[in-house]
Amino acid sequence: MRPVDAGTLRASLLRWLLVPLSIVLLIDVVGSVVVARKLSDRVYDGELLEIARELALHVHAGATRTTFDLEKDAERTLLLDQYDRVDYAVRAGADTIAGDASIPPPVRNARSGPTFYDASLDGQSVRIVQIDGTPADASVTVAVAETRVKRHELANAIMLGVILPQLLLIVIAGLALWAGVARGLAPLANLQQAVAARSHVDLSPIEVPQVPAEVRPLLTSINDLMARLSEILAYQTRFIADAAHQLRTPVAGLKAHVEVALREDDPIKARQSIAHLYTAVERMSRLVAQLLSLARNEPTTVRHVELAPLDLSKLAFDVTMDWVPEAYRKDIDLGFEGVEPHVTIDGDAPRLTELINNLLDNAIRYSRDKGRVTVHVTAQPPRLSVSDDGPLIPVEERERIFERFHRLLGSHAGGSGLGLAIVQEIAKLHGATIDLVEDADGLGNTFTVTFPVHRKAVHANHPA
Ligand SMILES: Nc1ncnc2c1ncn2[C@@H]1O[C@H](COP(=O)(O)OP(=O)(O)O)[C@@H](O)[C@H]1O
Ligand SMILES: [Mg+2]
Repeated sequence: MRPVDAGTLRASLLRWLLVPLSIVLLIDVVGSVVVARKLSDRVYDGELLEIARELALHVHAGATRTTFDLEKDAERTLLLDQYDRVDYAVRAGADTIAGDASIPPPVRNARSGPTFYDASLDGQSVRIVQIDGTPADASVTVAVAETRVKRHELANAIMLGVILPQLLLIVIAGLALWAGVARGLAPLANLQQAVAARSHVDLSPIEVPQVPAEVRPLLTSINDLMARLSEILAYQTRFIADAAHQLRTPVAGLKAHVEVALREDDPIKARQSIAHLYTAVERMSRLVAQLLSLARNEPTTVRHVELAPLDLSKLAFDVTMDWVPEAYRKDIDLGFEGVEPHVTIDGDAPRLTELINNLLDNAIRYSRDKGRVTVHVTAQPPRLSVSDDGPLIPVEERERIFERFHRLLGSHAGGSGLGLAIVQEIAKLHGATIDLVEDADGLGNTFTVTFPVHRKAVHANHPA
């Protein structure tokens, strides 16, 4: 799998933090604008209304018409404002009795009390209050308009007061995250350094102090892998040493045979030497084949065995038949006892063939002459056994003969001591168990390989 660059963890965490926070801030800004405007209106509307009420006091009802009298000085004092321009309009019906006729009337009057509304006057946005009816004349309206300068200022101050701290909060959160990630990932950097500093032959578990819980599984997996590698490395080192050691003796033997043959003047004796040489080469070729097979079937190094349903009875029968000539040569009664219907197991045919070959080779090789060797296959449980009536393998040797290169004292030359080790490896690859018992009559040995029950066979035996 090609690694995909996922960007830095820090960047993605920052994104996850800052994007939602910014959206919240944006919503907040919109809300604050509305609220700040309302608040500033509430603060200044009272003052505006006071001016309108003051103006209303200057409306007088006459016999023919209503008048408004306010001296210029008084008017200036009343409308004076540090920030804003204030205008007013006093109207009787559609007539403007005094003030600025261009102040727009409200679109809709308040149900009771004064009407506050926003409008635009001379291109400026203004806040207006209108009171309907004065103490002197109920049909007169007084409107006062004020530009929004101080209202804007107050609203801006309120908004800044709300938003600035939040903005600061986001910046601080971002910085804290930035620094926190660096601290949080420090153990990973330590782990990386620990792995990088490793020698390739040191496969002991990696120790990193203060590993956080999130990183521990990674460390555990790395150490598991180290342990498995170490096991395989140890196996292979041992195997190479063993193989070299085992090959040394036969190679020396070959050399000796060749030397003898070369020195021999008598052609007949030379031929004899070459015949010895041939036997020695044959034995060595068998040893090499067994070594290779052992290496090929070692469960820690085998990557994958393709197990397919196969007929154990048929396979065992075919392999047994291959041994008939050899049995005949040694006058051994080789028999097969199978069962019908056939026994299906999940297996690898070439490997199982090798397993049976090794058991039969031993049974025929170590059995007495004129002996009897029987291959037996049963269905429940799926089991293969090879029995002979040769000399008993002593109880204390029954485990050790499965070890590599282990042979019973006095066994014929010609063996390598690897056959049963290979048998055991192949059994393991099949999830099978192997047992060695003496025959019921106390004469001869029985090697039994018991296989796991084939999945389909389970269904067939126990219909749901
Ligand atoms: N059927 C048997 N009867 C008696 N001895 C056996 C039998 N099978 C194995 N052995 C003993 O176990 C030893 C190990 O067997 P094996 O691993 O096949 O190696 P090899 O046959 O090359 O010596 C043999 O040398 C032999 O001494
Ligand atoms: Mg053998």
